[in-house]
Amino acid sequence: MKLSTPHLLGIKDLLPQDIRLILDTAKQFKEVLQRPIKKVPSLRDVTIVNLFFENSTRTRISFELAERRLSADVLNFTTSASSVSKGETMLDTVNNILSMKVDMVVLRHSASGAPHFLAKHISSAIVNAGDGTNEHPTQALLDAYSIEEATGSLQGKKIAIVGDIMHSRVALSNIHLLTKMGAEVTVAGPPTLIPKFLTEAFGVNVTYNLKEALQWCDVANVLRIQLERQNQPLFSSLREYNIAYGISRKLLDSLQKDIIIMHPGPINRGVELDSDVANGHESIILQQVENGVAVRMAVLYLLAGQ
Ligand code: NCD
Repeated sequence: MKLSTPHLLGIKDLLPQDIRLILDTAKQFKEVLQRPIKKVPSLRDVTIVNLFFENSTRTRISFELAERRLSADVLNFTTSASSVSKGETMLDTVNNILSMKVDMVVLRHSASGAPHFLAKHISSAIVNAGDGTNEHPTQALLDAYSIEEATGSLQGKKIAIVGDIMHSRVALSNIHLLTKMGAEVTVAGPPTLIPKFLTEAFGVNVTYNLKEALQWCDVANVLRIQLERQNQPLFSSLREYNIAYGISRKLLDSLQKDIIIMHPGPINRGVELDSDVANGHESIILQQVENGVAVRMAVLYLLAGQ
């Protein structure tokens, strides 16, 4: 079985069978990761560069670990320590690296569309590790994997995506993935953080009432307020946001049903999630991080085989 695409630029371009193939392959890699010897030779002699033009903790470490578990040769690049700060363009930077015979590029960039631009100019396989406010496909894949692991399937599941929908690449990738795989999606948050066209364009429900969304859903995927992407105030204060849209223990208990709580990290404790919810029995946040390595191994393995 092969993917229908040579790159992973976004979930938008994937077919449902591509998503299924990645999730099934990830399951095999997760089994490998439970063994005493966690390393497989699948990507021996494949060289991968992690190009991070934007800050990251989880995603960068997760990709690097996935690459090393597959026995790839790994190069790391971060903007602050590179010639980008001397004025070099992204394309020049990448072409210079590729001329040293690099096979795959994992790219994070603050500009939406940066990996799509690169894909037009270079022949190596590209994995989008987050582009601006556009997509973060491996995050949506690991979220989907974690939902399946916790609930059995995606088909027919009710997923609420809560918070800063407008600036979140995690939200867009999740919406594409969940709707392609037969889940129902409701987005919830303040009107200023939810784009107006979502229902018509993507077939998702919109509500500005957090409790209504939580009452409806099986799983709530809670997003960080992306203050670094908001160049004007879109709500009055973080404290007020927490009162209207933060998830507290009291709110969860008032639902009188069990829901699963997810978050892509980094969490702003006390803003979108209270600490006792983030650490509570409903939370699968650390399972998401664990599954991220297996999912990224699957993506890299399948793309290398193209
Ligand atoms: C997200 C990101 O950078 O897009 N984090 C992540 O990759 N796990 C979400 C965020 O920054 O809020």
